[in-house]
Amino acid sequence: MENEIKKTVFSGVQPSGNLTIGNYLGAIKNFPRFSEEYNTFFCVVDLHAITVRQVPAELRRRTYETLALYMAAGLDATKNTLFVQSHVPAHAELGWILDCYTMFGELSRMTQFKDKSAKNAENINAGLFTYPALMAADILLYKTDLVPVGVDQKQHLELARDVAMRFNQVYGETFTVPEPFISEDTMKIMSLAEPTAKMSKSDPNQNAVVYILDTKDDIMRKFKRAVTDSDCTVRYSPDKAGVSNLMTVYRAFTGKSFEEIEREFDGRGYGDFKAAVGEACADGLAPVRAEFDRLIADKAYLETVMREGAERAAYHARKTMSKVRRKIGFVN
Ligand code: TYM
Repeated sequence: MENEIKKTVFSGVQPSGNLTIGNYLGAIKNFPRFSEEYNTFFCVVDLHAITVRQVPAELRRRTYETLALYMAAGLDATKNTLFVQSHVPAHAELGWILDCYTMFGELSRMTQFKDKSAKNAENINAGLFTYPALMAADILLYKTDLVPVGVDQKQHLELARDVAMRFNQVYGETFTVPEPFISEDTMKIMSLAEPTAKMSKSDPNQNAVVYILDTKDDIMRKFKRAVTDSDCTVRYSPDKAGVSNLMTVYRAFTGKSFEEIEREFDGRGYGDFKAAVGEACADGLAPVRAEFDRLIADKAYLETVMREGAERAAYHARKTMSKVRRKIGFVN
């Protein structure tokens, strides 16, 4: 009964690369806060991952790892529905249906499609183009109210809302229109090598990206090499993208405000500051990594979580699908 009253949260992460502190601070770290008061669905979106060519064994490994990271970051499998997208075929089914309610012009405007087609010029496949319709399906299947994501997913969320409203207009109230939940503080963590670009798990430059599972040595080294500027004052400012990004990371891991950070490093060089950011980040991630190591060693348990999660998700997805099929005019 209580579950009927609770609102719903859905989010997903692609198992398309090792997860970064951008994924962690922008999305995953925020997930557990919804566990108590919402019905929550957190999905490993493997169908989305194959829009870019994947090595099969790596995709499989990362699917387990992403699930283990969800749990290591604080998601309890008994309080949240944790599952793998391809285990619930309704995602692909509703994805196709929503393709037919999503316009070519809308999809052409998606900046992620433009970026990814530029980076994968040899494989601009139809799935890469219709990706946002599948993402809308993920969200709309569960009557989702709130979608915690980084700011790079905002445009996709807006499309999901437009598609939901369009469908509702044609067939009457069917889908809940979702809202994004974007944590202002950490909505866009930038690359350490090129601080005007987003930190991305697909970046080939290993020094640009801090992975959640990096060792402390790696983390310290990467922050030490982070691109800053020649001004040498720790100050948050739009014209100091590198330093501002490091301050954002430091604030996220320590809870200190920008003013406190500026005072703490007043008159000290970037060397001290970068070392402090590295320490704070490594310390913050250490418990996640320890818990991850414990979970990843138990494949059978992760498989149980996946199976039970998929069963729960499929139950909710079936209810939405039967409504959608009836409204469209498919024979039951
Ligand atoms: P993905 O796998 O690229 O990223 C997972 C989550 O991490 C956030 N994120 C960041 N946040 C802050 N700074 C960064 N540098 C950074 N990089 C990534 C992303 O915004 C995202 O929240 N399309 C989605 C996956 C998806 C999805 C969904 C999400 C598929 N279906 C339904 C929500 C709901 C994606 O590619 O995320």
